[in-house]
Amino acid sequence: SNQGLKDYYQSYFNIGVAVSPQTIKGEQGALLLKEFNSITPENAMKMQPIHPREDVYNWADADALVNFAHDNRLKIRGHTLCWHEQVPAWIFKNSSGGRVDKALLLKRLKDHIKTVVGRYKGKVYAWDVVNEVIGDEDDQYLRPSLWNEICGEEFIARAFEYAHEADPDALLFYNDYNSERPVKRAKIYKMLKKLVDNKVPIHGVGLQGHWSVFEPDDTELRESLKLYASLGLQIQITELDLSIYPWEKNLRAKKPDEQDRFTAALEKKQIDRYTRIFSIFRSFKKEISSVTFWNLSDRSTWLDQYPVPGRKNYPLLFDQNLQRKKAYWSVVDFRK
Ligand code: G3I
Repeated sequence: SNQGLKDYYQSYFNIGVAVSPQTIKGEQGALLLKEFNSITPENAMKMQPIHPREDVYNWADADALVNFAHDNRLKIRGHTLCWHEQVPAWIFKNSSGGRVDKALLLKRLKDHIKTVVGRYKGKVYAWDVVNEVIGDEDDQYLRPSLWNEICGEEFIARAFEYAHEADPDALLFYNDYNSERPVKRAKIYKMLKKLVDNKVPIHGVGLQGHWSVFEPDDTELRESLKLYASLGLQIQITELDLSIYPWEKNLRAKKPDEQDRFTAALEKKQIDRYTRIFSIFRSFKKEISSVTFWNLSDRSTWLDQYPVPGRKNYPLLFDQNLQRKKAYWSVVDFRK
């Protein structure tokens, strides 16, 4: 059929994909344009690649993606302005090589955000402003990081304010993973509520959706969507994929030779899981404005490198030959 995912879902939400400057070319670029109407730079706008030294910005990759989106009338989400990973070492050091103080760190964060958001003002329609700051351990509120150690919780609100000053029309998101799990969800909710109550310019919450054929729990997902929406925030699914390995097992790193195969049984589970989560997404049509996959096809996904390089994974809707998988057809069959 001539329709792509974006067409089937036209009256529901945008359908996006995380890309690099390589994946927008050739046959992958063609698939992207047929199926998706939104992109997220997978790495190109992160602080380390785009701002490796205080006085150096590398715009080439990010510009290429922004121009591609513009030329092809795709939406583009910016990712990400403040994160504990992929952050250049210089930002935490003062001129004598010691640790920066809070005032200088916030000034650098402000300069960074104003420069990057300012450059793409009116082009990038939504930003993951703050990424993954909630702790994974049950007794941790915020994740331990230099941002938190040096600034305390304040850097979170400041980041949103700087982004809003740089582009008052951009939609500003908090983005995190495992955000449907009850303990972490309660902490995310607590932080978001503070921001909303303090009139910080935040417009949405991103549920990453790095799930597996065994997760998430349907009820937890529905309850989470309701809870976040109750704050008056819009919701986007920002980094969807369904690993064929369960997450807890995944984290106990395995050697590539211990890998499972993408068996018929796992394939069936994946079809079933994709069908159920998309049916849930459709039932939250008013609350969810975009669903983005984290990579294009099973030919190459970040999960091939995680948690150990060389363990092949098959988490997406297109196979290694860029063909639609059975899960694809199930996701576009709205009777399911
Ligand atoms: O660009 C360098 C290259 O110059 C260098 O030679 C090479 C050697 O390792 O590394 C390249 O950078 C890698 C980069 O991906 C681009 O391929 C980094 O090492 C690698 O750590 C990085 O991984 C990315 C990861 O975030 C960390 O930034 C993944 O591609 C990306 O899919 C992943 O995405 C994150 C989201 O941003 C946030 N949520 C979780 C998600 C999955 O981890």
